[in-house]
Amino acid sequence: MKKTALIIQHFLLPDEMAVLEKDFRVIRIWKERDPETTIQENKDNIVVVISSLLPVRRSLIEALPNLEIIANMAVGVDNVDLEAARERSIVVTNTPAVLTNDTADIGLSLVLALARRIVEGDMYVRVGKWQNGPLPLGVTLTGKKAGIVGLGRIGLAVAKRLAAFEMDVVYHGPNRKEDQPYEYYDDLEKMAGDVDFLILCCAGGPATENLVTYEVLEALGPDGFLVNIARGSVVNEEDLLMALSNKKIAGAGLDVYTNEPYVPSPLLTMDNVVVLPHLGSATYETRTEMGRLVLENIQAHFNGEPLLTAV
Ligand code: GLV
Repeated sequence: MKKTALIIQHFLLPDEMAVLEKDFRVIRIWKERDPETTIQENKDNIVVVISSLLPVRRSLIEALPNLEIIANMAVGVDNVDLEAARERSIVVTNTPAVLTNDTADIGLSLVLALARRIVEGDMYVRVGKWQNGPLPLGVTLTGKKAGIVGLGRIGLAVAKRLAAFEMDVVYHGPNRKEDQPYEYYDDLEKMAGDVDFLILCCAGGPATENLVTYEVLEALGPDGFLVNIARGSVVNEEDLLMALSNKKIAGAGLDVYTNEPYVPSPLLTMDNVVVLPHLGSATYETRTEMGRLVLENIQAHFNGEPLLTAV
């Protein structure tokens, strides 16, 4: 029996799927009528699990006695139970670096969309409101201050783009980055109080869960915008809904949510909120590169070669 790869999220493009299928029998779990039974019937042959954002839980890992590698097609691995993988010496890989610029571009798109009411303006024209008068004014970006949470690869790429818009950049994270020119805040609430845009670029997972609370949003204030290109879990979603309803912040641009692909329905009725369906890495070029890395990591593992991007 050919070794089996279990794919639990549909992100690999057809060319890369074809390459995978040369070496592995592939189970596409979303195509299975009864996924639990399929996993149970194939448990001894599944040596690879590929996901992106959907959870790879301890229960799945424990159900697969011969699993060797979890190749996550994402930079984030907060969806993978790393502890359960470590206990069984299962290799985990991700796809860093190749998605940095595209994800930063989505961050900037949200900043622009919020400040200049781009999405609202488009709707305004489509529904024929323009004839009744102009759209309310937006805000200038030049000279405004943005606070980045998580000055990693993506945060830095966002900072570079903000600088091109002549915005001031400051940042918060667990550590000051001595090699960066931006002002560091060790206190998130204090930084939120000093900025016009709070842009979340950090990793998800327990260390950043519910980092952005009602208090942080209150500090951001009625003229401040929140942009989240990190993970839904970084923001307390209840607090965000409350802050938006109470006009404690000016608006929010969101690419990520706590329970994707479900978006809290109150957000859908708010003109000052831009909602995207987790588009950070969603370009042909970047998804191709991510898929290539997934395949190369799997090949390296089974050839006994060094992994390209082990977690
Ligand atoms: C996308 O959110 C990723 O982690 O790659």
